[in-house]
Amino acid sequence: MTQERTFAIIKPNAFIDHNAGKILARIYAEGFTVVGIKKLYMSKVEAEGFYAVHKERPFFGELTDFMSSGPCIVMVLEAEGAIKKWRDLMGATNPADAAEGTLRRDFGANLGENATHGSDAPETAAFEIGYFFSGLELLM
Ligand code: RTP
Ligand code: MG
Repeated sequence: MTQERTFAIIKPNAFIDHNAGKILARIYAEGFTVVGIKKLYMSKVEAEGFYAVHKERPFFGELTDFMSSGPCIVMVLEAEGAIKKWRDLMGATNPADAAEGTLRRDFGANLGENATHGSDAPETAAFEIGYFFSGLELLM
């Protein structure tokens, strides 16, 4: 299997609850390489651009309000099969359904405030990485 990159966010609820360090420790423990990492505070417009794929969904307003409600940490993670590996570590979208040992189970509060984001396919990973990181920021 070849190395793959995915895009990840430690969402505002997890950052504000001081869980960013614990989540990063789990990322390293699983063997990911952190290729890019930075804190930022998304504007409403930036959150809307990031989640444009969901713009027709009923929860779009709530989702983009939350993602622009506080700081978060955006990351590019590399591993073999990184996209699936990171989604497996995050667990189900709703923390109430997330398996034991997953990040959303441990750090998610509810369906909206679910602690982390992860790309769902190679095409979305490429878009999401490029939305927040320049090539220069990803040199290793
Ligand atoms: P994410 O994109 O954040 O990694 O989460 P996901 O793939 O597991 O879920 P997705 O379907 O892409 O939804 C994006 C985020 O929107 C919120 N959501 N709210 N109120 C609702 O019905 C609802 N459904 C989804 C969640 O916070 C989800 O992470
Ligand atoms: Mg998604």
